[in-house]
Amino acid sequence: VKQRLQGLLIMPIDPESFKAAMRHLAGHVCIITTVAQDGSRSGLTATAVCSVSADPPTLLCCINRQSASHAVIVASGIFAVNVLAHDDRHLADRFAGNLRGEARFGEGLWYPLQTGAPVLESALASFDCRLAQGIEVATHGILFGTITEAHTRKTDAKPLLYAHGNYGGFTSFGGGGGGDMLWIPNW
Ligand SMILES: Cc1cc2nc3c(=O)[nH]c(=O)nc-3n(C[C@H](O)[C@H](O)[C@H](O)COP(=O)(O)O)c2cc1C
Repeated sequence: VKQRLQGLLIMPIDPESFKAAMRHLAGHVCIITTVAQDGSRSGLTATAVCSVSADPPTLLCCINRQSASHAVIVASGIFAVNVLAHDDRHLADRFAGNLRGEARFGEGLWYPLQTGAPVLESALASFDCRLAQGIEVATHGILFGTITEAHTRKTDAKPLLYAHGNYGGFTSFGGGGGGDMLWIPNW
């Protein structure tokens, strides 16, 4: 039953209306990668990546436990988060599509850092992580990574974003001081 109240669309919260409401969250697009003990690489496209703490540097990502990469990350204890630039949209499709495992790495220049998880040369930033903790919530695993190394690319390239079921770009309103506002003290 849908009700209109002062212009608000009130929806009963089932998985479909959850997804419909969540589509309003504009997300940064990342590729999370890992490598198994036999050296085989896997990865997936993900927007559910979040900064947790600067000291020690920690991030989290939420990965469907049915994803092939989830079990590999839990077993290997390592993963890398690669923040995609606007031009790498095709890689986002590739890592969310029908190709599996190693085949997904057939495009892009990938190399290992400390942990051995594949890092993308053209990423705006890459975080090499050791799995610190994993929590299972419903269908997903929340994986906390201690960041062992971070690379940022010196570039004017803009981030790839995802909202309303579409990829898009970032348009700055300007006046932000070129990044001075990025880390707010005591945030
Ligand atoms: C823009 C976008 C964002 C996504 N975000 C996530 C995410 O945060 N977590 C997740 O588990 N899957 C996410 N997915 C879905 C996975 O990328 C997709 O299901 C992928 O095929 C999973 O890898 P697998 O086929 O090896 O299991 C996203 C897909 C797209 C296109």
